[in-house]
Amino acid sequence: MTLVLVVDDVAALADQYAYDLRRLGGYDTAVAAGGEQALEIVARDAPDCVVLDLEMPGMDGFEVLRAFERRGIEVPVIVYTGTGNYERCIQAVRSGAAGFIDKADPMERVVREIETVLERRRLETEVRSLRRRLDAESSLVGDSAAIRKLRETIARLAPIPSPVLVVGESGSGKELVARDLHRLGTNPKAPFVALNSAALPESLVESELFGHERGAFTGATATRRGAFEAAERGTLFLDEIGELPLAAQAKLLRVLEDRRVTRLGGNRQVPVEARIVAATNRDLDAEVAASRFRQDLLFRLNVHVIRVPPLRERQSDVAALADAFLATICERFGIRKKRLAPDALDALTSHDWARNNVRELRNVVERMVIAADGEVIGPEHVPEDVLDAGSASSTPRDGGSFHDRRAEAERQIVIGALERNQWHITRTADDLGLADHASLLKIMRRLGVQRPK
Ligand SMILES: Nc1ncnc2c1ncn2[C@@H]1O[C@H](COP(=O)(O)OP(=O)(O)OP(=O)(O)O)[C@@H](O)[C@H]1O
Ligand SMILES: [Mg+2]
Repeated sequence: MTLVLVVDDVAALADQYAYDLRRLGGYDTAVAAGGEQALEIVARDAPDCVVLDLEMPGMDGFEVLRAFERRGIEVPVIVYTGTGNYERCIQAVRSGAAGFIDKADPMERVVREIETVLERRRLETEVRSLRRRLDAESSLVGDSAAIRKLRETIARLAPIPSPVLVVGESGSGKELVARDLHRLGTNPKAPFVALNSAALPESLVESELFGHERGAFTGATATRRGAFEAAERGTLFLDEIGELPLAAQAKLLRVLEDRRVTRLGGNRQVPVEARIVAATNRDLDAEVAASRFRQDLLFRLNVHVIRVPPLRERQSDVAALADAFLATICERFGIRKKRLAPDALDALTSHDWARNNVRELRNVVERMVIAADGEVIGPEHVPEDVLDAGSASSTPRDGGSFHDRRAEAERQIVIGALERNQWHITRTADDLGLADHASLLKIMRRLGVQRPK
C-alpha cells in the first residue's frame, strides 16, 4: 500500500492532512513533527511520497530536501508553505521537490498532485529498469578465447562504414553482434533498423526495404519510407539475407552500388547513409553455387565477414551465460535471483547446444527457473531433453573431442566410486561429495551409467 509521510511542526495540521489523505486517497500515512524525525521515518519506513512543510523551526524544509539529496534518498517530495509563498515553493522545486501545493488547496487537489508524482516515479523506475535490461541483454557475455576474439573483431570493424556480413548458426548471437557493431560505431544514437526478409511475404520485401510512393501498387494508400531511409545515418540490419528473393537481390545490389534508393513507384533518389550489416545462417557460397544467391551481391556484402562461433566451440562460456540469463530472467519475473547447483551447471556445460545455441540455453534456463520452487536450481530441474542429448553425445566418438573425453573421464570417476561402494547409491553420492542420491542418479543418467546385470 502507498505510504505518505506528512511533515509539519504543527501537529494538529499534520494529523488533519494525514486523516484526509487516508480518507480521500486511501493511503497509509505517517506524520513527523520536524526534519530530524522525517529523516528517521524515511530511513525506516521508506514512504512512497513525502508532503513537507517548508517553514519549520530548527531544520526547515529546504534542509530536509538537502539531507535527502546528500543521503541519496529519492523519495518524491511535495512541499507547501504556511504563508502561500510561491517563490519559496518554486525555489524548493529547483532544489529537488517533485511538486508543490497550497495549504488552502482542497484535499482533492492534494491527492491529485500526489497521484501525479507517484505515477511519474513509477514511469521513471520502469524506464530505468527497461534501459538496464536492454543494456544487459545487448552485450556479449562470455570470456572464452573465441568470444574475446569476436569482441576484438567487432571493436575493429565498428567504426568502418563498409558493409559487414555476420555468419553463424541459428541462435548463436548474430543479431547481438550487429547491435554491438552499431553501439560501438560512429553513430550509436542514430536508428538501428532490423529487417528480416524471411519473415516477410515476398510481395512486401521490396516495399519494406526501399519504401513506396502512394499508389505504387494496390494497397499502397500512403507514401512510406523504406528501411534504408528509416535507418538514416545509423545501421540497417538485413537479417536472414540468404532468404532474400532474387528480384529483391538485384535491386539491393543496385542500391548498394549507387548508394541511392528510389521508392517503389517514385523517381526521386534518396542518398543511402546507413551502414549495412547483413546476417545469415546459410552457407552463401553454396547458395551462389545453387543459383539462389547472386554472386555479385555476395561480393558487395562479404568485404568484412564476422563468424560467430557456435556455443559448442566455447563451452566454457556456458556458466557465465547461464548466470547472466538467470539474472535477467529473474529480474523480469520480479523474483529473487536463483542459483544453479553445481550438478545442474554440469549438465548444462556438457550439453551439446547444437539445435539453437545460446537461444536454446536461454530458453532452458527460463524453464528451469520456472521448474524450481526454491532459490537453488538442482539437477532435477534440468529438462529431460538436455540430459538425454547430453548422454547421447557423450558416447565417445572417433577421435574424441574435448567434450567427449571429459564425459568419458566423468564416467570413469562415477563408475569407480560406484564399484568402491558396491553400487550403493547413497554411499557413493556421499563418497563423491554430492548433495544426495538424486544428484547422483541424474549424473548417472546423463553419462549413461547403468548398474551391470
Ligand atoms: N554471447 C552472448 N551473450 C549474451 N547473450 C547472447 C549471446 N549470444 C546470444 N545471446 C542471446 O541469445 C539469443 C539469440 O541471439 P541472436 O538473436 O543474436 O541469435 P541469431 O544468431 O541472430 O539467431 P537466428 O539465426 O536464429 O536469428 C538472444 O536472446 C541473445 O540475446
Ligand atoms: Mg537473428
